[in-house]
Amino acid sequence: MQDKTHLVDEITGHRRMRRNRKADWTRRLVQESRLTVDDLIWPVFIVPGSNILDPIPAMPGVNRMSVDKLVEAAKEAADLGIPAIATFPNIEMELRDETGSNALEANNLINQATIAVKKAVPNIGMITDVALDPFTSHGHDGILRGDEIVNDETVEQVVKAAILQAEAGSDIISPSEMMDGRIGAIRRGLDAAGHQNVGIMSYATKFASGYYGPYREAISTAGLLKGDKNSYYISPANGMEAIRDAALDVEEGADMLMVKPGLPYLDICWRLKENFGLPTFAYQVSGEYTQIKAAAMNGWIDGERVMMETLLCFKRAGCDGVLTYFAIEAARKLAKG
Ligand code: PBG
Repeated sequence: MQDKTHLVDEITGHRRMRRNRKADWTRRLVQESRLTVDDLIWPVFIVPGSNILDPIPAMPGVNRMSVDKLVEAAKEAADLGIPAIATFPNIEMELRDETGSNALEANNLINQATIAVKKAVPNIGMITDVALDPFTSHGHDGILRGDEIVNDETVEQVVKAAILQAEAGSDIISPSEMMDGRIGAIRRGLDAAGHQNVGIMSYATKFASGYYGPYREAISTAGLLKGDKNSYYISPANGMEAIRDAALDVEEGADMLMVKPGLPYLDICWRLKENFGLPTFAYQVSGEYTQIKAAAMNGWIDGERVMMETLLCFKRAGCDGVLTYFAIEAARKLAKG
């Protein structure tokens, strides 16, 4: 018998990648990344009033909720096993001003929501943002003086807002306004006020992105925003700068890091995790959600499949979890197995 080597074997030798892919059981055995309900953080939009579920046109399937409805939703999330929710308020226009002073009201919408959810659903984590954009009449995340978003004055205000949020019961303060020095200032402020157990999840690398469009509709800042946020968010072109920015947040005492937006920035997720080893989260933002929903509604992609695929990809890229508007949908799917 002649030893006839196939062409493929000459190239691969005895190496055949498909052996591990040949059956469901081998594929399960070698699977590297897994998505579980423990990886999901659910961002939600709150409105004043009661009994309100107000659909957001640019985010099919997502509602703005009054606090009573949020409490019901938080119960469902907790029952599904979702560890935490992140709240974003749609503040009445009359309450918005130049400096975002409503952020410093102990009983403002975001704090009311925290108090109500913590009372009714004590075992779900509450993550609250201290950026000023929901509260300012110009839609910027900080205090605007002339053409400038002033850094240090904004940080002072953000620290006060963080302490009020902690007092309302927030578990994790999550500053998204990208001012320099904010993480250290918030840490010192929280500690001085006796909130050593309240954590900080830094929006360490937040990019100046077009993907935030539907969010700005949801909290009604789209029509207000004067100019852009390029003087405080990171340019989508800059990876090294993002790492340096995150390094400062780590030094200043961040407990967790976040990358925002998510999918176009998986390289940043990976680099943060590799560099710092902190719990690292991605925010699959409104525009990412909307793209998937819109294509699915047109029958152009399998929306559920792409949802699960994108969430899994965050895990593969080193993330410990994902903030996603799909949280409930994904949790239900995971529960079904
Ligand atoms: C601003 C903020 C943004 C988002 C949450 N908080 C971005 C922005 O409006 O510039 C975006 C979230 C999303 O798109 O889902 N502090």
